[in-house]
Amino acid sequence: MANLARTGLLAAVTVLVMALTSVSGAADEPPAGAAKPNPFESHDFDRPPDDPAAVARGKQVFSVNCAFCHGSDGRGGEGGPNLLRSPIVLNDRKGEIIAAVVLNGRAEKGMPKFNLPMESIADIAAYVHSIKVGAASSFTPRMVLVGNAAAGKAYFNGKGGCTKCHSVTKDLAGVGAMDPKTLQDTIFTGGGTGMLGIPSPTAPPRTVTVTFPTGETVKGKLVSIDDFVVVLTDADGNRRSIRREGEAPKVEIVNPLQAHLDRVRNWEDRDLRNVTAYLETLK
Ligand code: HEC
Ligand code: HEC
Repeated sequence: MANLARTGLLAAVTVLVMALTSVSGAADEPPAGAAKPNPFESHDFDRPPDDPAAVARGKQVFSVNCAFCHGSDGRGGEGGPNLLRSPIVLNDRKGEIIAAVVLNGRAEKGMPKFNLPMESIADIAAYVHSIKVGAASSFTPRMVLVGNAAAGKAYFNGKGGCTKCHSVTKDLAGVGAMDPKTLQDTIFTGGGTGMLGIPSPTAPPRTVTVTFPTGETVKGKLVSIDDFVVVLTDADGNRRSIRREGEAPKVEIVNPLQAHLDRVRNWEDRDLRNVTAYLETLK
C-alpha cells in the first residue's frame, strides 16, 4: 500500500462533534488518547500555495465542465451543491479525493462522471481550493480524534457491512500497526489511491471488459484509459491498446475498491472514528 499523502475524512466534523458532545461515553472504553500524548495531533495540511497557472487552468476546466451545476465560483447552482463547504473538497489536497467523485460520478444523484485526466482534476482542485470561503467556515481538517473501539467493532460486523469483504483475523490482521492517521485514510480509500487519486501499486487491479460491435470481447487488467484508447493486460500477460471512438467499443470497468469509493460521501464521522479505533486494536 502506498503511503502517499492520503487525507482524512471529515476530521473537521470531528472537531465540531468533539466540541458539541462528549466522546467519553462508554465506561468500558476510556478514550485511548486521554492518557497518552495524543498521536493524532498536528496533521496540518501542507497544501502548497496555489500555483497561479494551475488555478487559471483549473478555472477554465471548471467553467466548461462543472460550473453549470456547481456555479462559476463553486458556491452551488443549477442542481449541484456548494462545493466550498463540501467535506470532500475540504479534505482534498490536490484532487485525490475530488477525483473519486469526478471519475465515478453519482449518476443516481445527477452528477455525471467525467473522464478527465488526473492533471486536469488537480487543476480543478487548485482552482476550487483557491476560492476564499469566508470566515464562517473555520472547518479545517487537522486531526483524527479518538473513537470508541467497541462501537467500531459493532459497526464493522454489523451496519458497516465490512465483513462482506474483510476479516480481522485474515486480511486485516495487523492493520492496526499503521499510524492512526494513515489507518483512517486507508479505511476511507481502501488503500487504493494516493496522490491525485492514482491507484497505489498494491491496490487490486481494476478489470476491464471491452465488447466490440461484432460481439467479440477482450478482458484484462486496466492499465489506462482516456477518450481515445484503453490499454489493458490480457490473461496471457499481453498488453493491448484498443482504440475508442465514441461509444464503440463498449468498455466496462470493475473496480474492486468501488465499495470504498461509494462510501466516501456516506461515512458518518463518528462511525469512521470508531472503526479506526477498533482496527487500531489489531496490532
Ligand atoms: C449535471 C450537473 C453536475 C455537473 C456538470 C457536475 N456536478 Fe458535481 N455534483 C452534482 C450533484 C447533483 C452532486 C451531489 C451528488 C450527491 O448528492 O451525492 C455533485 C457532487 C459533487 C461533489 C461532491 C460534493 C460532496 O460533498 O459530496 C464534487 C466534489 C463534485 N460534484 C465536483 C464536480 C466537478 C469537479 C465537476 C466538473 C468536472 C462537477 N462536479 C460537475 C452535479 C454536477
Ligand atoms: C465490497 C467489498 C468491500 C467492502 C464491503 C469493504 N471493503 Fe475494505 N477493501 C476492499 C478491497 C478490495 C480492498 C483492497 C484490498 C487490497 O489492497 O488487496 C480494501 C481495503 C481495505 C483496507 C486496507 C487494507 C490494507 O491492508 O491496506 C481497510 C483498512 C479496509 N478496506 C477497511 C474496510 C472497512 C472498515 C469496511 C467497512 C466499513 C470495508 N473495508 C468494506 C473491499 C471492501
